[in-house]
Amino acid sequence: MTDPKIEQLRKLREQARMGGGPERIAKQHAKGKLTARERLELLLDRGSFRELDMFVTHRTTDFGLDKQKFLGDGVVTGYGTINGRLVYVFSQDFTVLGGSLGEAHAEKICKVMDLAMKNGAPIIGINDSGGARIQEGVISLAGYADIFLRNTLASGVIPQISIVMGPAAGGAVYSPAITDFIIMVKNTSYMFITGPEVVKAVTHEEVSFDELGGAWVHATKSGVAHFAAENEEDAIFLAQTLLSYLPQNNLEDPPMRPTSDDPLRTDPELDSIIPDSPTKPYDMKEIIRRVVDDGIFFEVHEHFAQNIIVGFAHLGGQSVGIVANQPAVLAGVLDIDASVKAARFVRFCDAFNIPIVTFVDVPGFMPGTAQEHGGIIRHGAKLLYAYAEATVPKVTIITRKAYGGAYDVMSSKHLRADINFAWPSAEIAVMGPEGAVNIIFRKQIAQAEDPEAEKARLVAEYRAKFANPYIAASRGFIDDVIEPHETRPRLINALEMLRNKRDTNPPKKHGNIPL
Ligand code: HXC
Repeated sequence: MTDPKIEQLRKLREQARMGGGPERIAKQHAKGKLTARERLELLLDRGSFRELDMFVTHRTTDFGLDKQKFLGDGVVTGYGTINGRLVYVFSQDFTVLGGSLGEAHAEKICKVMDLAMKNGAPIIGINDSGGARIQEGVISLAGYADIFLRNTLASGVIPQISIVMGPAAGGAVYSPAITDFIIMVKNTSYMFITGPEVVKAVTHEEVSFDELGGAWVHATKSGVAHFAAENEEDAIFLAQTLLSYLPQNNLEDPPMRPTSDDPLRTDPELDSIIPDSPTKPYDMKEIIRRVVDDGIFFEVHEHFAQNIIVGFAHLGGQSVGIVANQPAVLAGVLDIDASVKAARFVRFCDAFNIPIVTFVDVPGFMPGTAQEHGGIIRHGAKLLYAYAEATVPKVTIITRKAYGGAYDVMSSKHLRADINFAWPSAEIAVMGPEGAVNIIFRKQIAQAEDPEAEKARLVAEYRAKFANPYIAASRGFIDDVIEPHETRPRLINALEMLRNKRDTNPPKKHGNIPL
């Protein structure tokens, strides 16, 4: 016969595991959503999850809450491993009071965040909540602020990943917003400051949940979401994959990934990848895939500001962050969204000791009133600042255009890049030949017998003189001009040479990045 006390414990555990009860679990499943515990089972290595605070309940008696006490108070917290590496987790349980956040719920989240910080391991939060628990009033708001504070203090110390698998409304969105990466699920998750009802009342706009704050909107338009997963399993796989590129904390290096891809592998196809015409686009992602280990590039923010590419890969087994202009979208121009997207990524890599490899083909910054009035000066400065401030190994490769301020910004030697390569096709100058000739030879062209012919002659002359990498190389701004096929071995060699790089910034409380 089992000891009655053990029997009681088993019963309580079972009760906690059932969350808000079978009916609400069935409702959750009917929406195509898993329960908080099912999600953790998928996320963590089998049998590795250790739950904390299963017996915690809320202390509120107002509005009938005394009759609605649930073990765990609507959030499952604890720790476990992913591919053998420790992570801390919390997973909100929508079946308990809509996953709403009250005092005890918040305390549980804060406890695992504190543990994650003290022990230097990533935290993953699965968000599925109706927001601040209305019955607990300002105490719920205090609970959110306690979490925001911890998110902020943990920023740059441990990786923080948010998976949004249901509603995240009102101020609740600001916890995910401070974390490093947000993964949303198409059709079942949404994030907004005010919901469709309030929007209608205030602005008379009619908009659906999905149009206002669904995964696709945030992955393509606002840039709030870094990933839009097809379903919950896909979202969990993305989080696991993402972690494989990251260190446990800011004092460690990312794990090495052994590869059979030869570090000396050359790729002759790269020698003919740049089109003959300087205005013809090509896909920078193809270059990245051809260069990195096993052709595996894990893209971040794939659908947002596609004129710049950011993501993770390995080179010679070492994890690297890749930033690349994309000539196939808007000619790879830098605009507000692209600058902000890349700046945040550069800062993430720098905070977590991930070397940055930058592929450059940039015609400049985007002109126009929309960009100027939107603050391209302020936003473009973010990318410049991020690159300048970064002390991780920085290796740059200019494949084609590097014009104007954008040349400076894109991890130039002047911003402390360590090794700067250029392909022979590189064009490094203040501006493209057409624009330059129009400005400096305007009178000469106007006065010529055949202005068009004169302009063509001057453009050709300018191109021959300036549109190449050799002037920059003659000053040491480019360390070497390399043949495209040798890009992989040269990058790996540079990264190995830089493995013990130590660089610092002047002592200060913190800088003042133009936000
Ligand atoms: C208490 C809540 C709740 C909340 C939902 N519930 N949200 N209980 N506080 N904030 C409860 C419901 O009463 C219900 O209980 C159960 O959770 C499931 O909710 P449903 O409405 O039945 O689910 P669904 O139809 O899927 O709608 C989900 C929802 C809706 C869209 C999230 O519940 C909703 O609009 N909730 C309020 C959202 C909100 O305005 N929150 C405050 C945001 S401000 P029963 O017992 O019937 O199952 C905020 C401030 C953060 O969060 C502060 C930071 C500074």
